[in-house]
Amino acid sequence: MKHLILAVALILAGCNEVQDVQIRYDTMAQAIQPWPGASAALVPPDGVVAQGDLQDQEAARNPPPATPQLLARGQERFGIFCTPCHGYDGYADGIIVARGFPKPPSFHSAQLRSAPARLFFDTITNGYGAMYSYADRVPVGDRWAIVAYIRALQLSQLTTANK
Ligand code: HEC
Repeated sequence: MKHLILAVALILAGCNEVQDVQIRYDTMAQAIQPWPGASAALVPPDGVVAQGDLQDQEAARNPPPATPQLLARGQERFGIFCTPCHGYDGYADGIIVARGFPKPPSFHSAQLRSAPARLFFDTITNGYGAMYSYADRVPVGDRWAIVAYIRALQLSQLTTANK
């Protein structure tokens, strides 16, 4: 019985205010301890790279070969991330545009047909004008997959069956 009372007392002592209201910092708040004057989010030392960054940079430089698998992946990702504005066929009549968002250029314009693949990749990475960046939602490999699919989409238009 004595042990039980002791155990209950210890458990209750665990639920004190310190645990209820823990000290925490907002990301960029001024840190009080242990480095006065510093921000709670420390700047990484010079030369430090995040895990995977070097591989991403390498993959961004080198487009993968356009295999059927890559195109299928690109079609799927394009359907998820690009069609709301650019439409399934790339003519920029997506549902968000129908609701009043600025209309993007058609992927079948002379300008975008002759644009290098890199322009599409960079637009997904950095955004462009009213279009925001997709860098945090579309990983590097998927960006190339989407670019390959847009190329296929461009080839599929303005062509005739008997040529
Ligand atoms: C929320 C709507 C929206 C979505 C989603 C969207 N875009 Fe755009 N996109 C735009 C608009 C608007 C423009 C034109 C921006 C401007 O001229 O200010 C544009 C422009 C572009 C351009 C032309 C860039 C140039 O230099 O002329 C490309 C290429 C493009 N988008 C690719 C994509 C791809 C690929 C995706 C999917 C990963 C995508 N967009 C998703 C709205 C969108």
